[in-house]
Amino acid sequence: MRLLILGGTEFVGRAVAEDAVARGWEVTVFHRGRNEPPAGTASLLGQRTEEGGLAALKEGEWDAVVDTWSADPQVVAGAARFLDGRVGRYAYISSRSVYAYPAAPELAEDAPVVEAGSGGYAEDKRGGELAALEVFGDRTLLVRAGLILGPYENIGRLPWWLNRMARGGEVLAPGPRDLALQYIDARDLAVWTLDAIEQGLDGPYDLVSPSGHATMETLLEACVAVTGGDAELCWTDAEKILAAGVQPWIDLPVWLPPGEDHDFMHQANVAKALASGLRCRPVQETVADTWTWLQGIGGTAPQRSDRPAVGLDPEVEARLLD
Ligand SMILES: NC(=O)c1ccc[n+]([C@@H]2O[C@H](COP(=O)([O-])OP(=O)(O)OC[C@H]3O[C@@H](n4cnc5c(N)ncnc54)[C@H](OP(=O)(O)O)[C@@H]3O)[C@@H](O)[C@H]2O)c1
Repeated sequence: MRLLILGGTEFVGRAVAEDAVARGWEVTVFHRGRNEPPAGTASLLGQRTEEGGLAALKEGEWDAVVDTWSADPQVVAGAARFLDGRVGRYAYISSRSVYAYPAAPELAEDAPVVEAGSGGYAEDKRGGELAALEVFGDRTLLVRAGLILGPYENIGRLPWWLNRMARGGEVLAPGPRDLALQYIDARDLAVWTLDAIEQGLDGPYDLVSPSGHATMETLLEACVAVTGGDAELCWTDAEKILAAGVQPWIDLPVWLPPGEDHDFMHQANVAKALASGLRCRPVQETVADTWTWLQGIGGTAPQRSDRPAVGLDPEVEARLLD
């Protein structure tokens, strides 16, 4: 298999590249050159947002493309048209954000989606889907990921929890303990996506673990365990945390209290992905491998410039714990 990854050097794309290389596929990554290409890949450089920026892709044919673009959909449209006729299948790493909000629990692929193109993240992702579909039709795979965790994470969610646990002491643990979580390890996303390409799957797939694959408690306990066990989890009611003005998801990454946002992010129906072979590794493995990686890079996680920094102000945490 000859695979072209548009991106491929940071987080999700890197996981896809590493898995494809491990399968013995011939992998090319197309990027600006700000990050090192993964071992075993060929690197082509270009700037997707600039006129003529795809020149390095002028020649060549690939069995499949994986596109990780997450902003202006015209960039996906430009690449899809540029590669038309030289590519077998096109997998676009989309997002569950494309669904119209608010949405009830058990949301699945047939739920209504937002209108493409009005500039927000959800509209951009929907626009990216339509741009790929317009050129590749039923050779398009839409990988609608939910929350993505794992080594190389460039948003800082699991890295923040890990660093907080490593600091030790009493840690504000947002309840309820048994709050069901739904996320996908980037490496499980990669395995599923490459398998799906091989099988010729097309259309949208919601890609997260079943709800409850982990809970707030199993996630945080795993973080405590791998970071040395000096942190003491202080389980705190959601109401109390919210009353203190703490922002779920941003101040306390991953956490959404029971309610509409939690229904949307952590209660999706993933029957379609499971039936097509999705396997999710245990949360303890995701946490341990992310900690190993984080320590290996000195403890400071990379941070995408187009996403907000996450994490709770230590003073706010101390006040709440008091
Ligand atoms: N994180 C989540 O929880 C989450 C949830 C749902 C969906 N998603 C989706 O998952 C995807 C995440 O992708 P990722 O960022 O991890 O992918 P990635 O492919 O690992 O990294 C982004 C790549 O884009 C390249 N790039 C950036 N700007 C470029 C430009 N102007 N021209 C050419 N190449 C450029 C970077 O190259 P350099 O080497 O030059 O930097 C890098 O290789 C996104 O589509 C996001 O919407 C994420």
